[in-house]
Amino acid sequence: MKGILLAGGNGTRLYPLTNVASKHLMCVYDKPMIYYPLSTLMLAGIRDIMLISTPHDIELYKKLLGDGSHLGISITYQIQEKPAGIAQAFLLAEEFIGNDNVCLILGDNIFYGDGFSTTLKNCSQIDEGAIIFGYRVNDPERYGVVEFDENFMVKGLEEKPVKPKSNYAVPGIYFYDNHVIEIAKKLQPSARGELEITDINIEYLKQNKLKVDIIGRGSAWLDTGTPLSLLAASNYVGTIEQRQGYKIACIEEIAYRMGYISLSELEKSIDNMPNSTYQLYIKQLIQNEIIKVPVLL
Ligand code: DAU
Repeated sequence: MKGILLAGGNGTRLYPLTNVASKHLMCVYDKPMIYYPLSTLMLAGIRDIMLISTPHDIELYKKLLGDGSHLGISITYQIQEKPAGIAQAFLLAEEFIGNDNVCLILGDNIFYGDGFSTTLKNCSQIDEGAIIFGYRVNDPERYGVVEFDENFMVKGLEEKPVKPKSNYAVPGIYFYDNHVIEIAKKLQPSARGELEITDINIEYLKQNKLKVDIIGRGSAWLDTGTPLSLLAASNYVGTIEQRQGYKIACIEEIAYRMGYISLSELEKSIDNMPNSTYQLYIKQLIQNEIIKVPVLL
């Protein structure tokens, strides 16, 4: 399965933070935002990833993440000239996807929860159709929203409805079979002028090929598109990291634990880092042999 990491858009809601650099490079506690969705793809077992961003920001991502070889993965880059909609990603990445299935994750979405890695790995084995998620939120009108019938079967989907038919929002991670490309090609821009990801999901629903998995209340889905949600995400990550002594979304640690790099490659990655708490964290994992303890990812 291929992975797409979407990190374009204008990030205007975070102005002036986003005046000179992409929203997905902003800090969420102790690391750039993009580390979180990247680590989610890595945990799903996806190693062939295309990062899509603006002409202005793409070079910054290349500088930050390189070709991914230090993480035992491959990262290629694609420019999105204008934010013409999330679903445009499948058109921009058509060649990259080839005949494979694909997982798309939005660069401003953070997922955290016990057992979520297993869910992701299972989703990446999808044969046909689409798998998306539903997560209960207080403010569904800000998102794509799922409508259920009386048996809790999915009846419909709406993008940012004024009167949401449920509290279940659709988080920004989506698993599709290869048909997603042809579906994206037939899309028309919405009233806000974008190729909507919700329209893709509606098409799968019409074809009876959409599965909506509910992410339970024990897991966290955070988005980081506004100053307050960015602060909330930082506080959340900081609280968990302080308490456990484990970092969330340390991509080098994940690369090692997933078997993408060897212990000596992990050690080498430290040499390329400046003296920092991030470097110290990985050093300590190795020195205290914590890295050999099989933790649930
Ligand atoms: O966060 C989940 C929500 O994301 C879903 O519930 C909605 O169904 C989906 O439409 C989307 O909602 P937003 O309208 O809030 O997405 P936003 O415009 O904030 O873009 C989400 C991310 O995708 C953001 O990190 C920027 C990036 N993006 C967006 C567009 C429209 C691009 O890279 N290119 C684009 O053309």
